[in-house]
Amino acid sequence: MHFQWYPGHMTKARRMMQENIKLIDVVLELLDARVPQSSRNPDINSLANNKYRIIILNKADMADPDITARWEEYYKSQGFYVARVNSRKGTGMKELRRLIAEACKEKKERDRKRGILNRPVRAMVAGIPNVGKSTFINSFAGKACTKTGNKPGVTKGKQWIKINKDVELLDTPGILWPKFEDQRVGMRLAMIGSIKDEILNTTELAWHLTDYLQESYPGVLEDRYGLQTEADMTREDLLAAIAQVRGCIMKGGEPDHDKAARLLMEDFRSLRLGCLSLETPDDWNPDKKD
Ligand code: G4P
Repeated sequence: MHFQWYPGHMTKARRMMQENIKLIDVVLELLDARVPQSSRNPDINSLANNKYRIIILNKADMADPDITARWEEYYKSQGFYVARVNSRKGTGMKELRRLIAEACKEKKERDRKRGILNRPVRAMVAGIPNVGKSTFINSFAGKACTKTGNKPGVTKGKQWIKINKDVELLDTPGILWPKFEDQRVGMRLAMIGSIKDEILNTTELAWHLTDYLQESYPGVLEDRYGLQTEADMTREDLLAAIAQVRGCIMKGGEPDHDKAARLLMEDFRSLRLGCLSLETPDDWNPDKKD
């Protein structure tokens, strides 16, 4: 699903979040493990003020596991609970249930002291489009999914999915918007295919990807396309070499850069280049930025 945001969308999404967040105890913030910080909207911090927070690195099956481990440490060091999941397969859900219990144990204890027993904690999922919210909700709810709407104490019209005796999940996720002001964000979201390629030129995207791969994953392009690269090759030369190897040639015999760019982006997005991440916590550290 591709998306475009306008100020009107953001205002509506923010209003919905503000309304729904009042009903819940814990926010499950979904990020894309390949671009955790770029898929994050820092406004969540003010929206979810006073709520228990869990960061979920979704699509962990598509990301570089070593870098995902660094992100996990990074967010933990900022005081978040962190889970890694693959919502398509359902991996990591058991650990997540344990984390929810741990994050909310203080509230459970408070309830117990007040004589309130067996009141489930209420959770909601939040994240930018395409991060996997619907897939996650289906997977987390699993077969045990029992909807409990329109009963006393439940706001009319809201549907809660009973995950187990301790947790209820709001069935509508909070939709956040990306932080477009930062150019890196738009570029990285486009690379994973969350922003229409027409908005950002595919050839330009492919150049960025080749630059990034040559620096962060040397050898990957060479292995995939059987290229012999030289140190002084430019991004244009590289794309031309891929075009040559893959037969992306125009009528006059010139390499078809656009076609090679589309092929490269498609190979990256469908993991034919491997499980690669597009950013590390260091990229976002002002002291270490290049
Ligand atoms: P959203 O509600 O946040 O907008 O996202 P949604 O669940 O629609 O997921 C967006 C795409 O990401 C879907 O792929 C979905 O299958 C995929 N996805 C979600 N979670 C994971 C995950 O943990 N691992 C992997 N590998 N993929 C995940 P799609 O191709 O757009 O749709 P479909 O072909 O799966 O139906």
